[in-house]
Amino acid sequence: MATTLFDLSGKVAVVTGAGANGGIGHAIAVGLAQHGADVAVSDIDEEGVRMTVAEIEALGRRADGILCDISSPQQVEAAFAAVDQSFGRVDILVNVPYAFPSRVHPDELTLDAWHKTLAVSLTGYFLCAQQAIRRMLAQGGGCILNIGSIAGASALGRGNFPYSVAKAGVNQMTKELAVEYAGQGIRVNAILPAQVLTPSFKRAVLGDPRFSEKLTQRLLVGIPLNRLLEPEEFVGPAVFLCSGAAGAVTGVLLPVDGGNLALNAGGNHIWPVD
Ligand SMILES: NC(=O)c1ccc[n+]([C@@H]2O[C@H](COP(=O)([O-])OP(=O)(O)OC[C@H]3O[C@@H](n4cnc5c(N)ncnc54)[C@H](O)[C@@H]3O)[C@@H](O)[C@H]2O)c1
Repeated sequence: MATTLFDLSGKVAVVTGAGANGGIGHAIAVGLAQHGADVAVSDIDEEGVRMTVAEIEALGRRADGILCDISSPQQVEAAFAAVDQSFGRVDILVNVPYAFPSRVHPDELTLDAWHKTLAVSLTGYFLCAQQAIRRMLAQGGGCILNIGSIAGASALGRGNFPYSVAKAGVNQMTKELAVEYAGQGIRVNAILPAQVLTPSFKRAVLGDPRFSEKLTQRLLVGIPLNRLLEPEEFVGPAVFLCSGAAGAVTGVLLPVDGGNLALNAGGNHIWPVD
């Protein structure tokens, strides 16, 4: 008999940053639907939302598109009110969006850029989590999945400063919320990706004229699997963490990073060693 361990039938998932742009949120939204969930597809990209909704409906699942900038408390409140109207419950929240300012050294960073980065990448996650938790408490449970980054666990340099600080905050938010609500049946976990070949990564990192072609080689030295990752590789870990298979898993920061965080800077996966 086939296992139902990873079955999400009957669950309602809210996925922020789920516009169909080839990113991690898009892959996870479709992946959750492939495993049975109905999905509230949220993003600031109207066309992207429309396309993801169509993809999910084509799978025979229910989907609703909700435009929402997660840095706006009013928009987040309205988005969850819309989810109440459409679906009547929230079983799963996946927080995905991020903001990244122009890359400068920390001593050159403007306060405005700092605030804008944290408003989306950290405060936005809190605002969505708070709305979801209020509903999950009333329902008697649920789960939250935050998309963090290896940048929240170890320093990357290269102008990552405010982004990395926000991601470190996401890590601690994950653990604090997990502990606060474990007794009420709400699980909170995070996935920490290494470099993923999404269109925005290709544009913002590989396409940055200040980085030479050597950057990819440098990144690969830090990834024992010896390749950059694909957005679809986040579906399995996300489905696991959002499903009954992970019923005892909360407060976990799961690296999905090809081994990056396991590797000590003095280690090497490339032989012979120069
Ligand atoms: N791509 C990578 O290499 C990589 C590495 C580590 C971590 N991550 C993390 O993974 C997540 C997804 O990254 P990605 O590369 O797939 O990004 P992406 O840019 O492809 O997707 C992010 C989505 O969020 C939406 N968005 C942006 N600002 C928003 C806002 N204020 N409110 C609502 N939606 C908004 C965008 O329209 C987009 O659809 C991010 O949290 C990122 O930090 C990515």
